[in-house]
Order: sequence, then structure tokens, then C-alpha cells
Amino acid sequence: MQYRAFGNTGVEVSVLGYGCGAVGGLMVRGEHPDMLRTVEYALESGINYFDTARMYGDGLSEIHTGAVLRELGAHDALVGTKVRLSAAEFGNIEEVIEAQIDNSLQRMGRDNVDIVYTHNSIGAASNPDGGQLGLDDLERIVGVFNRAVESGKIRFWGFNGLGDTETLHSAIDRFGPSGMHTCYNMLNPSSSHEMSAGFPYQDYGQLMQKTAEKGIGSVAIRILAGGALTGDSVRHPLAAQDVAPIATGQTLSEDLARTSQFSFLVEDGYTENLAEAAIRFAISAENLSTALVGLSSFDQLEQAVAATNKGPLPSDALEKLEGIWAAS
Ligand SMILES: NC(=O)c1ccc[n+]([C@@H]2O[C@H](COP(=O)([O-])OP(=O)(O)OC[C@H]3O[C@@H](n4cnc5c(N)ncnc54)[C@H](OP(=O)(O)O)[C@@H]3O)[C@@H](O)[C@H]2O)c1
Repeated sequence: MQYRAFGNTGVEVSVLGYGCGAVGGLMVRGEHPDMLRTVEYALESGINYFDTARMYGDGLSEIHTGAVLRELGAHDALVGTKVRLSAAEFGNIEEVIEAQIDNSLQRMGRDNVDIVYTHNSIGAASNPDGGQLGLDDLERIVGVFNRAVESGKIRFWGFNGLGDTETLHSAIDRFGPSGMHTCYNMLNPSSSHEMSAGFPYQDYGQLMQKTAEKGIGSVAIRILAGGALTGDSVRHPLAAQDVAPIATGQTLSEDLARTSQFSFLVEDGYTENLAEAAIRFAISAENLSTALVGLSSFDQLEQAVAATNKGPLPSDALEKLEGIWAAS
């Protein structure tokens, strides 16, 4: 397993991170022995970052992730979780965020956590009904985060890199988070690559490149586009059966249909299958710290680790992908 600097934090993260979210579903809806076995294999394989959130299974992911890591004695594993404001909570930000951090720690059975992210999207103006934080909301949250750092409840804090591109860049400049989640996959690589004017999806304006330049750790999400980039429409029974794409097509089936443009990676022998291609594509970004994979099963983790250990995609495969994006 390769390790990369998590920005300027002094922390080294495994290039493959463990997604504890509800799309894969293992850490929300899985059986305890399966969660235990999979997390144990992750640790044995060198994975040292686990990404959860209070929203994943309404607290269940935090409860399960905390319990399994404790049971395995994985005291050095890095854990990140997230706070999220509902519309009604925008009026009472300080109290709500402080309570959410405390509640997350309680659910995970920990005195502190390595990093807490905002989970709401970020936009030019505060929009409680749309779940969107404006920069002034963020400022108030950052105040709470800083107090939580001082009191030892959290080591670092960061933002979710979803929302309006320009405002996301401004949020980085204004607040200097330690970490940032960013959507990054073969369908939408715009947080690392420069895209042409006609690019069909949201252009993140090389957000991940910016985080790297500013010494901010980056966490790539949706590297498999929620499962579409496997090219297989059959969902695992534990997985979310209805997945809303992030910054790609309107529907998962639209994303699935577009994966045919990447089949050359398998046909020309670069990778054994599309899932391997998607994972190796994500870790090919040198400005990325860790790429999360959302998991439904032990086997998926085993495959993800094997793919990661094969290393980045060859440069000629990456050049061919550039050609595909330029033509899109
Ligand atoms: N900050 C945010 O707002 C945000 C948003 C989304 C995600 N995240 C984080 O990022 C993590 C990953 O994202 P995600 O789960 O949404 O999407 P993802 O990793 O792009 O996709 C997960 C899906 O990919 C499929 N898969 C995984 N490994 C596979 C393998 N080896 N072979 C074949 N298929 C495989 C599974 O689908 P099937 O089981 O159906 O086959 C799984 O449900 C989450 O757990 C969460 O921690 C954060």
C-alpha cells in the first residue's frame, strides 16, 4: 500500500481509503462478522483511513465503524466524520455543530476523531432549504471546529468539495481547511484535469490541484461513480439500489451507458475489468491524498486492494483518456 502526505498535517494516509457510506452499504446494513472481517482485511492491507458521517444510515455507520475498529484494537486508524445542518438548524449553527461533534464521538465510542468535514454543499449564498452553506455559515462552523481542535475533540477539520465551483475555491482561500472531499472519476476528472469548454458536467476547476498547491489533503469520492464505472447494472443486495449521481449524468443508467467509452482499457489489456480501471485511474492523480472506495462486500475490498497495488494506469492509457474527454 502506498502512503501519501495528507496536505501539511504531518499525517500519512493510505492511497486507498475505506468508504463507510450508505451507497456501498456494508458499514450501514452489513452483518457484524462481515464488517469485522472486511475492516480487518483493510487494516492488514495497509488501509489507514476510514470515512464515515452521521448521515450514513442515520448514525449506524459511525456506530459500526467505531465498534469494529475498537474490537480490532485499531487505535491508530485515522477516522473522518462529517457534520450536516438541516434547514431548521441554520439559525443555530454553533450549538448544533458542537452537539453534532459530541454525538458523533459518542456513537463512535471515542474521545476524539482525526478529522471532521462539513457535509452540506457550499454555494455563493446561504440556502437552508437547499442544504447549502454560504461562506458566512462556513465561518461560523470553522469557529466551532477551531474550538473543538483546542479542546482536543478533533485533530483537523475540512470541507465537502461539492457545490458551486467558484465558491469552493473561495472557501479554500478564505479558510484554509486541512482536508477537502472532491468528486473525481473517469467520467468527471475536472478536479484534477483541465477540461475543454464543452465538458458536459460540472467543471470543478482543478480543485484537487489547488488543494495540493495549498497543502490541503484531498479525499476523492465517487471514484466508481457510485458503482456505474463497474459497467455492471446489477447492484449488490447491501448496496443502495437507487443512487443519485454526483456531478456526472442525470441518472446512474446514463452514467452506466457512458462507461462503454472506457472499455478499451480492458480490451487493450491495461486492466482486467472496469472497476480496476476506475480505481487505478483515481490513484493516478498525483495531487490526490486518498481515494475512497464505497464497499458492499469483502470481495469488493479485496479487488480494490489488488487494483491499488497494481499502481496507477500506464501513461499511454491516461493519454487516451485525455483524448476521450477532449472529444466529449
Ligand atoms: N462528501 C460527500 O458528500 C460524499 C459523497 C459520496 C461519497 N462519499 C464518501 O466516499 C465513499 C465512496 O463513495 P460512494 O460509495 O458514494 O461511491 P463509489 O465508491 O463510487 O461506488 C461504490 C459502489 O461501487 C461498487 N464497487 C465497489 N467496489 C467494487 C469492486 N471492487 N468491484 C465492483 N464494484 C465495486 C459497489 O456497487 P455494488 O455493490 O452495487 O456492486 C459500491 O456500492 C463513501 O463511502 C463516503 O465515505 C462522500
